[in-house]
Amino acid sequence: MPRNSSHPATLAAQALGWIDPSTGAVVLPLYTATTFERDPDNQYRRGPSYGRADNPGYNQPEALITSLEGGAASLLFASGMAAATAVFRSLPLGAHVVAPQIMYHSLRRWIAGGAAEGHLKVDFVDMTSLDALRQAVRPGETRLVWTETPANPLWSVTDIAGAAEIAHNAGALLAADNTAASPVLTRPIELGADVVMHSATKYLNGHSDVIAGSLTGARDDEFWRKLTATRSSGGAILGSLETYLLLRGMRTLYLRVERACRSAQRIAEAMAAHPRVAAVLYPGLPGHPGHDIAARQMRGGFGGMLSIRVMGGEAAAIETAARVRLWKRATSLGGVESLVEHRASVEGPGTPVPSDLLRLSVGIEDSDDLIADLAAALG
Ligand SMILES: Cc1ncc(COP(=O)(O)O)c(C=O)c1O
Repeated sequence: MPRNSSHPATLAAQALGWIDPSTGAVVLPLYTATTFERDPDNQYRRGPSYGRADNPGYNQPEALITSLEGGAASLLFASGMAAATAVFRSLPLGAHVVAPQIMYHSLRRWIAGGAAEGHLKVDFVDMTSLDALRQAVRPGETRLVWTETPANPLWSVTDIAGAAEIAHNAGALLAADNTAASPVLTRPIELGADVVMHSATKYLNGHSDVIAGSLTGARDDEFWRKLTATRSSGGAILGSLETYLLLRGMRTLYLRVERACRSAQRIAEAMAAHPRVAAVLYPGLPGHPGHDIAARQMRGGFGGMLSIRVMGGEAAAIETAARVRLWKRATSLGGVESLVEHRASVEGPGTPVPSDLLRLSVGIEDSDDLIADLAAALG
């Protein structure tokens, strides 16, 4: 059973230190069972009943995420989208929500689609402005304020504590997509968030080999029980092998994120001085509009994600991505290998992303190699 330590890096490295009581194994077994035996009197005193509702393999990774996020409980999901959409699907039909203009595009599209079909009402606002949020919330009517910080792919920063206060004053919950920062850098619950979401596909797993999601609740309350029921009845559960791989990935979370942050800061500074780069979007640069808030609510670094705007527009950006040799041209983020992506092509018509923008996910390679490769590709 876990021995408590005050340092999250220690908790992560030891995955809370759980030992298999029957064998002493320091890595717990993978549970593949879909069903569990009842007691002779028809009860389930040992706990689990059926694999869609219960998987003993979830206990350790969920407890670890809860501990790293400083919450009351966590739930694993089959993907980040499954986790995020479970939050919206657990609201009353037709609920009013406020979401950022700049956020993960598939979720923005899903929310907009839900609003078009009348499942919810939404206002998309500039979430870097607390005044804009204050004007958008409808006291007594807004049920949820969704935030993502730093937000994909401009890495704009939301003041989580300020947003939580506005949401709570209006009687709404505050949810934070903490995928880009990870709990290493930001703990939204300490800043007032009610629910924290991760695409665990990204930093939590960190090896580009598992699609997974998680939610962490600040309280084990009625809304949390609704989310638990939404997962079990909706059926978007994580497979056993993916659960095992995710826990293994989380053991190195701190090393990976610390390294990615250091390298991203160096790359951002090098790109800011490059004559073919028109702008660098990274909260770690003092000129970034969200730098001061990020410095307050992120500890130990500004993340491994940044974007550059290439001189010469869309064609020059796409040509730059075509010329890299070390960086991989691929979507996603938060893995050990560095990725580059022309984001406007991915998001398609109507995207708010500038067409000269390349999104960079910094991995754990040597940062000099990464800078040299990008500089050569820029020409
Ligand atoms: C910030 C953010 N949130 C949510 C998601 C969705 O996660 P998944 O792909 O695991 O469903 C992503 C995926 O790219 C993301 O970057």
